Amino acid sequence: MATLSARSLATFLTGWRLSGAGAAYQSLADRVRLLVLDGRIPLGTRLPAERELAAALGVSRTTVSSAYAALRDSGHIESLRGSGSVARLPHPSATSAPEPADDLLDFSKATLPAIPGVAAYAERAVVKLPAFVGESGYDPYGVLALREQIAARYTRRGLPTSPDEVMVTIGAQHAISLVARAFVARGDRVLVESPSYPHAFEALRNAGGRLVQVAVTSEDGWDETALQQALQRTSPSLGYLMPDTHNPTGRRMPHDQRERLVATAARQGTRLVVDETMSEMQLDGSSAPTPFATLGGDLVITIGSVGKSVWGGLRIGWIRANRDDLQRIARIRFANDLGTPVLDQLIVAELMPDMDGILAGRRTQLREGRDLLAALLRRRLPTWRMPEVPGGLTAWVNLGAPISSQVALAARSEGLVIAAGPRFGIDGVFERFLRIPFSYPPEELERGVDALARAYAAISRNPIALGAEELAQIA
Ligand SMILES: Cc1ncc(COP(=O)(O)O)c(C=O)c1O
Repeated sequence: MATLSARSLATFLTGWRLSGAGAAYQSLADRVRLLVLDGRIPLGTRLPAERELAAALGVSRTTVSSAYAALRDSGHIESLRGSGSVARLPHPSATSAPEPADDLLDFSKATLPAIPGVAAYAERAVVKLPAFVGESGYDPYGVLALREQIAARYTRRGLPTSPDEVMVTIGAQHAISLVARAFVARGDRVLVESPSYPHAFEALRNAGGRLVQVAVTSEDGWDETALQQALQRTSPSLGYLMPDTHNPTGRRMPHDQRERLVATAARQGTRLVVDETMSEMQLDGSSAPTPFATLGGDLVITIGSVGKSVWGGLRIGWIRANRDDLQRIARIRFANDLGTPVLDQLIVAELMPDMDGILAGRRTQLREGRDLLAALLRRRLPTWRMPEVPGGLTAWVNLGAPISSQVALAARSEGLVIAAGPRFGIDGVFERFLRIPFSYPPEELERGVDALARAYAAISRNPIALGAEELAQIA
């Protein structure tokens, strides 16, 4: 069973006392509950002993025992004889007033509903299926017809690719996890952006990676000095990056910065894993990006997916890499899965020829969502700052104060599930930010911003006393 040290939990809890209203134990319980709910404390993790956490937080043991007792009552921890307190989710019948799932808006994910034509593509794929049923279906690389389409699209976009440089995976998340397991050894350094996509942190850490972060901001993009120094000083085995449509800021890395990044990574022997799941969701009218790997050759492993462009429910992603790297990935793949479902691959093979049109439709939809979110925030939450969003499905909104966890907690009571800013960083940073998706239909966006405005009003009624020390930690 994994154990969370008192020091690590204290880092996650940075600023917890700012939840000002009510008793200290209640604020502490609320913050731990949020960490369990949004996955930063994985289920089944053993929490630190009360005495150790009290010492790490500088509070009395009674405060921690009362917080743990409140968490036990709400079903978010379970105390097991001999094993301490373990993170759990409440059994549905244990919550006094379960909110009907239909009424809860979930903004913790940034997704689009399926494109309207997906069922028609599926019908066409079913017609093609009989040609495959004589085969075993266990193929770690994937159906050739789809790999050909993916390779042809890269080639058209300026990156010559052959089908045997492509492996089809069960979504991009699976691809990240495969690459992490193939190329990260326990204790290796792995370069990541901060903020970034949190499930990538999990996959890289599960593989044993020690994460080295480099800042990306909505205003200035990548901190180039930090990027270069991190590569030179820590020689990471992998760098996981989103140079086109970075999640969550939507930023795009300038060309000269890419060239310097590739040159330094090559010198340090760092493989660059470039997640292009959202790379073609650029909303500022600039031309479609040339794949990053045109600069990096064999050094770059590219990850793609139809999860955002077509539908997350198809669970089709891919890895583009040199043949040797793909072989290494194929060998470790068998320990966990024996291939990607054939029918889903055939559906994607049917729709690949229409991908340019599909993406154009998505970009229009997302531009409208982005502009609506900006207008709603200006009207309902004028002190929050939504930056320019050049691409993607989300805005990385600056709240003006370190209150993101409080807003996320209060939003739950208003019917909105949203991940607090620290979910997108490591070490408890980003309390000043909230990632708000604009990929949902207009009426849901309005309901979501409405819930946020009510949540913000609720916490604003309990003014926050900012301690200088906590401010310094959070800033
Ligand atoms: C940057 C990034 N990579 C990968 C994924 C996972 O995508 P898939 O649904 O293809 O597994 C997501 C989904 O949110 C994402 O935002």
